[in-house]
Amino acid sequence: MALTDSSTNAIPVAGRVHRFSYAIRNIVAEARRVEAAGKTVRYLNIGDPIAFGFRTPPALVAVVDRAMRDGHNGYGPSEGLAGARDAVAAEYTSRGFPVAPNRVFITAGTSEAIDLALCAIVDEGGEVLVPMPTYPLYTAVLAKLGARPLFYRTDPAHGWTPDIDHLCSLVTPATRALVVIDPNNPTGASYSAGTRRALLDVGERYGLVILADEVYGDLGHEGAVVPLGSLDPDAAIISFSSLSKAYLAPGWRTGWMGIGRSPRLDGVAAAIGKLADGRLCSTVPMQYAVKEALGGDRSHQNSFRAALKERGAITAASLNAIPGVSCVAPTAGFYAMPKIELPPGRTDEDYVLALLRATGVLCVYGSGFNMPPASGFLRVVFLASPSELRDIYARVSDFTREYLRT
Ligand SMILES: Cc1ncc(COP(=O)(O)O)c(C=O)c1O
Repeated sequence: MALTDSSTNAIPVAGRVHRFSYAIRNIVAEARRVEAAGKTVRYLNIGDPIAFGFRTPPALVAVVDRAMRDGHNGYGPSEGLAGARDAVAAEYTSRGFPVAPNRVFITAGTSEAIDLALCAIVDEGGEVLVPMPTYPLYTAVLAKLGARPLFYRTDPAHGWTPDIDHLCSLVTPATRALVVIDPNNPTGASYSAGTRRALLDVGERYGLVILADEVYGDLGHEGAVVPLGSLDPDAAIISFSSLSKAYLAPGWRTGWMGIGRSPRLDGVAAAIGKLADGRLCSTVPMQYAVKEALGGDRSHQNSFRAALKERGAITAASLNAIPGVSCVAPTAGFYAMPKIELPPGRTDEDYVLALLRATGVLCVYGSGFNMPPASGFLRVVFLASPSELRDIYARVSDFTREYLRT
């Protein structure tokens, strides 16, 4: 074996890693440095309700605890436990989107469902329509697959509504799927029935599968949002959701996908099953909670939605009161995407890092969600308590006034 100089013998990293980024977590490295320098950091970067004091419903914890004590600690079926699949199918069907239990896969969160579906649908060189801004997992998975995102605009001047004409102008023969994130992360928008119909029409017109990310579906501030598939149960739709957000158990890594009844999706359903076999199964004890979550008491969602509504309103009002800042009021979930009128030559990342170093407040720059860096967007997670949020926005206000003056 050839001997190599220790400076050149590093094991090479695969090229695809350079195309892969996930700003929501990447930015934490800088926050740790700021903390090490003695500053308290307020982590408004990750949408984890547990980190802000919200609690997993005790009935769900009890079911998982019992499952483990009862010895359900072995592998399960790769597609998921029958009871969990039945519960997901019943949930979609009762909300107007008929899904058969054998078209449900239980996954390691919505994240794994997204990965499996994209792997099953998109070839190397294929294209997928993704909103701009987007939740970054879509672009990260497409980078791994050697596939290409086509970013369709969503418009803050119209409540972050997708620009349907722009979307249609992007479609090519290589386009395979249309990602719809509704309610949306990072913008906090939920779409009107008219917009949802227009998105379904685009899918039909171009023969695309719609990947409906509905992980915030139960967190509309005025009440749960119906699944996109309920507007056209025969459309080629795959819906994703999980226990992470609306059931307050993100660490359990338990989610699902529901594949619509369209026979056009039969091959895709079989392909997803084949891929799911390769990763054996998702966490088994936690799957017992799916039935309890979807079939049991959901009263925790009423108080959670009310808390989010109050915090979203504080966020929009506080940020809009800062000169040079505008923020579309969120209508669902726990994110907002304000815009800072940046001085020429500055980027969203410059602003976010300067904010972090000066105040300890950690947000994610909009370019981490594929917005242009000079457009000045950032994402705020508003799960902190109202009093803490007011304090945080006061710091953001003082900092931003100074930042925009220089
Ligand atoms: C739009 C969107 N999709 C998917 C996910 C992943 O969620 P899960 O914990 O279910 O994997 C998130 C998490 O923040 C999200 O915001």
